[in-house]
Amino acid sequence: MKTVIVGISSSVAAFKSVQLVSDLLKEGLDVEVIETKNATEFVTPLQFSSLTKHKTYVNTFDRVENYDVEHISLAKKADVFIVAPATANVIAKLANGIAEDMLTTTFLACDCEKIIAPAMNTKMYENPITQENIEKLKKYGVKFVEPATGLLACGDEGKGKLASVDDLKEAVLSSLREKKLAGRKVLITAGPTMEAIDPVRFISNHSSGKQGYALAKAAKNLGAEVTLVSGPVSIKEPYGVNTIKVKSALEMFEEVKKHFDEVDYVVMSAAVADYRPKNVASQKLKKSDDDMSIELVRNPDILKYLGEHKTKQKICGFAMETENQLENATKKFFGKNCDLLVLNDLFEKGAGFKGDTNVVTLITKENNEKLEMMSKEELSYVILNKLMEV
Ligand code: PMT
Repeated sequence: MKTVIVGISSSVAAFKSVQLVSDLLKEGLDVEVIETKNATEFVTPLQFSSLTKHKTYVNTFDRVENYDVEHISLAKKADVFIVAPATANVIAKLANGIAEDMLTTTFLACDCEKIIAPAMNTKMYENPITQENIEKLKKYGVKFVEPATGLLACGDEGKGKLASVDDLKEAVLSSLREKKLAGRKVLITAGPTMEAIDPVRFISNHSSGKQGYALAKAAKNLGAEVTLVSGPVSIKEPYGVNTIKVKSALEMFEEVKKHFDEVDYVVMSAAVADYRPKNVASQKLKKSDDDMSIELVRNPDILKYLGEHKTKQKICGFAMETENQLENATKKFFGKNCDLLVLNDLFEKGAGFKGDTNVVTLITKENNEKLEMMSKEELSYVILNKLMEV
């Protein structure tokens, strides 16, 4: 079992660490908590211990006691160490090798991956001294989860809020994954496209972007440099992913072409509109008593273009079918020169648009493999692993 140390320093945001610890435990991880003395004013050690079933460390002496009992120091045991929230004070100490309490001592003794999530007043965060300390730690390989911008506890507005629990969890999970895609570049498309009729109306589909965003996160967690070209969705941009927002198929096509030459893998999970209105009215179309028709023209087939122009890239397409699924999907696999095609059936329970799960058949040159229903997150790892194999 992997061990995560969560270090907590004195910030009003410390309450978020309770959720972080709980979420990490749900991922099946062993979590050890170290608080600074002042952090215990915000959240008690007992709260963390009740969750982790371990002693919550505060004093340096705790470490010695633990060492004697378990013959192993926390520092050696850790696979990743995250300090969240990290105050300006703690960041300054860590940047300068000061080891004066359990948190700072253990941080200095650890040679595992280290992550720091700052939380402080904007002026303190932007102060060149803090920025210099952050740069220094980055130089030594420490990763940072950027603070968010918003209303701070002190009443000021600006950058300095502790990042969301989801982003903190992602940063930890990402550090723990085997980096099979390290040094690789991955391009993923997600969501629907929106084809304007007039300034008010558009043609689109039901894609939520969940599958594509899960793929982007998974690729990032496997160590890839990820570019996500996303149609309009209401999901938060994945942490550490270069996300480019587009609306129409033409815009998606342009962005995909811009990045195609430099990437090693492409996954086209976006639900791209095949047609768009020939003319986009500049003013809202007025209704009359007559019926109305809109002339549609073909959009470029982005996946087909990629299949025709690929050099080193491995390409994964998707197929959303409602009838003759395997036959139609196999045609797409060959017709668009894919290396892998993921077929999902709109009418199958737990598959396709919007939900958190998917049921798919993976089509390769060799065979077809129908997979059990699984979460879109889990499926994303299966797809990426398969794409690396084919
Ligand atoms: O976003 P979610 O709510 O999580 O739903 C996920 C999903 C159902 C959208 C996803 O799993 C999926 O099936 N995506 C592809 C949907 C689709 O457009 O299928 P298609 O069979 O029409 O297209 C085949 C392939 O060609 C797809 O890879 C598509 O991205 C691509 N294509 C299609 C049309 C076009 N003009 N250009 C393309 O590149």
